[in-house]
Parts: sequence; structure tokens; C-alpha cells
Amino acid sequence: MDNDTPMLVLGIETTCDETAAAVVERQSDGSGRILANIVRSQTSEHARFGGVVPEIAARAHVDLLDGIVAQAMKDANTGFAQLSAVAAAAGPGLIGGVIVGLTTAKAIALVNDKPLIAVNHLEAHALTARLTDATQFPYLLFLASGGHTQIVAVRGIGDYVRLGTTLDDAIGEAFDKTAKLLGLGYPGGPQVEREAARGDVTRFTLPRPMFGRPDADFSLSGLKTALRLEAEKIAPLSEKDVRDLCAAFQQAICDVIMDRLRAGLKIFRERFGTPSALVAAGGVAANQAIRKTLNRLAFEVGTTLIAPPLELCTDNGAMIAWAGAERLALGLTDPLDVAPRARWPLDEIAAAEGARKRTAAYK
Ligand code: KG4
Ligand code: ZN
Repeated sequence: MDNDTPMLVLGIETTCDETAAAVVERQSDGSGRILANIVRSQTSEHARFGGVVPEIAARAHVDLLDGIVAQAMKDANTGFAQLSAVAAAAGPGLIGGVIVGLTTAKAIALVNDKPLIAVNHLEAHALTARLTDATQFPYLLFLASGGHTQIVAVRGIGDYVRLGTTLDDAIGEAFDKTAKLLGLGYPGGPQVEREAARGDVTRFTLPRPMFGRPDADFSLSGLKTALRLEAEKIAPLSEKDVRDLCAAFQQAICDVIMDRLRAGLKIFRERFGTPSALVAAGGVAANQAIRKTLNRLAFEVGTTLIAPPLELCTDNGAMIAWAGAERLALGLTDPLDVAPRARWPLDEIAAAEGARKRTAAYK
């Protein structure tokens, strides 16, 4: 295979409650194209428990994954023999699900004699903007999902510096808990957003934790407690109460994001110069009020907001396949005995690099 031949990578995602597989093509000029992207969300299986149940998720991945891989290969009109590599999210995430996806990828790689790439799920979120918008390094990433809230300097493949994170709840988690408290369904983000849109933002005053601090960290448990206390004061809640509380909560979150990202951008500038863009990733980026906030901030600091389409912000296989392709282009592959990881901070990737093998299979 010469270097001008496009790479074709199968990507598998099973770290949470989406079972997903995709096939992505990467050209030698660094541009990418999604050939197939199948996502099966298990939300309905978990909804009655008010959150993801790890055991149910792992079993559902076992039931669903081979059919979803087959569908992705069919949609991409390709076969395993044509693949350049097989990539799977090897963490961080719910370990039962991670084992299912990674082991499946290992089996496909072994049987078809293809290189395996064990992708960090957060790295995949971080690199999606390069697939959708060919974003150049370095850029500032704001990753906000149900499990993660991070501000990261993305300087290159495997070169990530975490500038800020949450000391307690992730932003998506705070939305989910707020929804639960107010008797709204799961997942909470979209429901809180819907209620907030019709609420009176001025009625309740909630705190803006960490406001004005020079670091870029978040803390949301105080906000959650303040909201609970306000709700308890006026219980039982009318529909209007719920709407107004949602509006106050969402506004507080937007203000906190604005402040924490301003601090993150300042640190970025001091350490790494001007970012090429502000990139949003994770399910929370689906929120229109938050997107507006990010747009305002980008405008204020003279940079561009890159927010991939919603289906690529939430968990999917294309981001795993793309991260795999980016790594493969640098010759970074993993041995078949690579371990799944429940915990795998983004900035540990660079440190692990020395231990990685260069592949002989992709020349
Ligand atoms: O990235 P994602 O699909 O899955 C992971 O957690 O990895 O993110 C899901 C999270 C959930 O907490 C959900 O409530 C939140 O993203 N979310 C939202 C919205 N849509 C999804 N949060 C606020 N507003 C939304 N519209
Ligand atoms: Zn995710």
C-alpha cells in the first residue's frame, strides 16, 4: 500500500450506552470522509432506572454489536479485507462495555490480519473537529458530556494538556440530576433545555461556582444543592416552578461555562499562543443556549467556534474510526493484548506513547 492510498478504518464505540460502529476513510492529505456511521442508543433500556446501568449496557452491547458492525460494513460497501485497521474505544468508560467493544475489534483484527488501534474515547471526541472541519493544531477543546467536563489544549495527535476539569459533577450529569430532582425524564439535558426555553430566568438566583478563579476548573455540586434548596422551599412544584428553575439552572451553567472558558483561553494563550479555534464536543454541546454562549465567547476573543454536527458531538463510531485513522497515519498501533481501561485521562496518552509499537502491517 503506498502512502497516497486512502486509509479505511472500522471504529467501534461501546464505552457507555451507545452501541456504535462506523467506517471512515482518511486521505493522505489529512482529509476524511464518513462512509458509514451506525449508532444504536440504549436510552430506552436505561430510562426507567434514571441513568445508565452498567450491567444492562454491557449485555446490550453483546447483543447488538456484531449486527451493527455488519451493517456499517454493508453501508460502507466494503469488506474486512479492505480495511487498513480496526479501532475500538479502549476507555475511559464502563468497563463491561469497553471489554465487549475492544474484544470484538481484537477478534476482527486477528482474523483478518489487520492492525488494532486502542483509542481513548476522549481523544476521539477531541479529534472529531479535524474530521468535520480540518481544524489545525493547536486548538482549545471544551468537552462536556454525561461523564466528562474538560478544557483541553489539543496540540497534536497524542499531545493533550488538560487545562481544567470538574472537581465533582460533569455538566451533563448536573443536567441529568436536575431533571431527576424536578421530576423530568432521562436523559435530562434535552428536557431541562425544553423547560428552560419557556421559563423566567429572573425568578431564582442560583450561585455561579468557581466564578473569577484564575484556574479553569468547574465545580457544580454547590449549584445542584442551591437548586434543590430553592425547589424544597416552594414544593410542591407547579409546571411554572419547574420551568423557572430550569431557566435559572441553565443560565447559571452558561455563565459558569463562559467564565471558566475565558480562564482556560487565558491559560492557553500564556502557554501555547493563539488557538486556531474553540472546539465544542460531547452531548452537552447539543444545548442551543450553551452553543450561543460558546459563539459569543469565540466572537469576544476573536476566534471561531467549531461545533461538529450533533450526531458527531454525542458518542458515535465515526469519531473512534477517525481517531484510529489519525493514529494509523503516524504508525501508532497497539498490540492485541492491549488492556481495556475504565480510567484513562487524556493527558496520559502522550506519556504512554513511548511504549507503543510502530506497525509493520501498514506500510
Ligand atoms: O456525549 P454524550 O452523548 O455521552 C456521554 O456522556 O459520553 O453526553 C450525554 C450527556 C447527558 O448527560 C445529557 O443529559 C447531556 O449530554 N445532554 C444535554 C443535552 N443533550 C444531551 N445537556 C444539556 N442540554 C442538552 N440539550
Ligand atoms: Zn463521549
